[in-house]
Amino acid sequence: MTKPVTIAICGAGYRGLQRYATYAEHFPHECRIVAVAEPRQWFRAEAIARHSIAPVNVFLDWREMIKQPKLADAVIVATQDKDHSEPAIAFMNKGYDVLLEKPMATTEQECRDIAAAAKRNNVLLAVCHVLRYSPYFRALKKVIDSGVLGKIVNVRHVERIGFWHFAHSYVRGNWRNEAQSSPMIMAKCCHDMDIMRFLIGKRCLKLSSFGSLSHFTAENAPPEAPKGPNARCVECSLATDSCPYSAPKFYGKMLRDKEFDWPLNIITQDFTEAGLAKALAEGPYGRCVYRCDNDVCDHQVVNMLFEDEIAVDFTATAFTDAEVRHTEIMGTHGELSGDSKIIKVTDFRTRKTTTTEVAALDITNLGGHLGGDFGIIQDFVRAVRERNPETILSGPEISLEAHLMAFAAERSRKTGSVETIALG
Ligand SMILES: NC(=O)c1ccc[n+]([C@@H]2O[C@H](COP(=O)([O-])OP(=O)(O)OC[C@H]3O[C@@H](n4cnc5c(N)ncnc54)[C@H](O)[C@@H]3O)[C@@H](O)[C@H]2O)c1
Repeated sequence: MTKPVTIAICGAGYRGLQRYATYAEHFPHECRIVAVAEPRQWFRAEAIARHSIAPVNVFLDWREMIKQPKLADAVIVATQDKDHSEPAIAFMNKGYDVLLEKPMATTEQECRDIAAAAKRNNVLLAVCHVLRYSPYFRALKKVIDSGVLGKIVNVRHVERIGFWHFAHSYVRGNWRNEAQSSPMIMAKCCHDMDIMRFLIGKRCLKLSSFGSLSHFTAENAPPEAPKGPNARCVECSLATDSCPYSAPKFYGKMLRDKEFDWPLNIITQDFTEAGLAKALAEGPYGRCVYRCDNDVCDHQVVNMLFEDEIAVDFTATAFTDAEVRHTEIMGTHGELSGDSKIIKVTDFRTRKTTTTEVAALDITNLGGHLGGDFGIIQDFVRAVRERNPETILSGPEISLEAHLMAFAAERSRKTGSVETIALG
């Protein structure tokens, strides 16, 4: 029996603590969380309690942790988007293997620096492009690689974000404002850039993009909506049923249905009517969606040319019901469509259609992203244990490509240019 891999957490928030670290609770023989850096008291205390972390290995800031001798085999960097590159590079320089949340960073130079640091230090780096590790996308890839579709000619991919998810994360939440985090095409869709690269198995050469923030602005506020920069749903005279974005309605239903996981656990840890009322009256998630300081796009399209003249169109939109990704692949011998659950493949030679349902992975609370959250931490722990980069599907160089595509798409959207993707 080999010793469990030891892991430090840098940023024990939703992703670091409530997702990846839970793997160690369920598979303690594989890995242990032995150190934590987290400024927020509740989350730090929770990390210590769940993982019995020794007081000497508890820090309020990763900058304190990095001053210590190496405390673990690997570190999970799950701070906010703008705070990825500094710790990721510092930990790699100290010899840690790193599981790095996406986006790698919010500037092209930082992304390149992160990839270079992994190479220079000869450490393992896995970027959390979790979709690659999901059974569903692995199954799609298997169909493509089997050759049944012939040569791929076109791909259509749609990221249907979900109106409530968009309002939560991209209007009221952490990814609403480009200067504070990153553009929507990076924060949300670097996953999609990456999954297209993964499925097609070739590089993107050129792209153009259009999109804007069309709806979540003051001009679109209903007359009943309260006014002012801190206006809240609880002050609104519009009946909650008349506004799809009503925070009391959405989060209140979750509370009454006892759904205490994401996104309710982002707005409060006090799962009572009083706890919710306080969060909606004081916190960011009770704000009127028409009066927030949001500026990221609520819809965007990207047209891409991949190697071998494969033409790809991608749409991301807030204006859908559930969050789900749809993919269509058109090949010379067949076509495939997938809706994140069911994969249909028609072979033009036999005119037969086969339909496969990919069972959803629901392992404890790591079933997110179609089971990709579970898949990535499992494969990362194994890679660290075996010192083998082969189980990492989202290493530095390949992940950098997806980020360069997202940066290029944003430049194109802002300037009207057709962008060439400059690798290397
Ligand atoms: N892979 C995915 O599909 C996916 C999904 C959601 C979020 N994310 C990304 O994961 C990252 C974290 O998101 P989250 O929702 O967990 O955010 P979060 O705010 O819940 O967690 C970030 C944590 O970092 C802590 N932190 C801040 N400064 C720190 C410091 N100096 N040292 C140590 N810790 C510090 C914060 O207190 C917070 O608890 C973001 O970059 C986000 O974009 C990825």
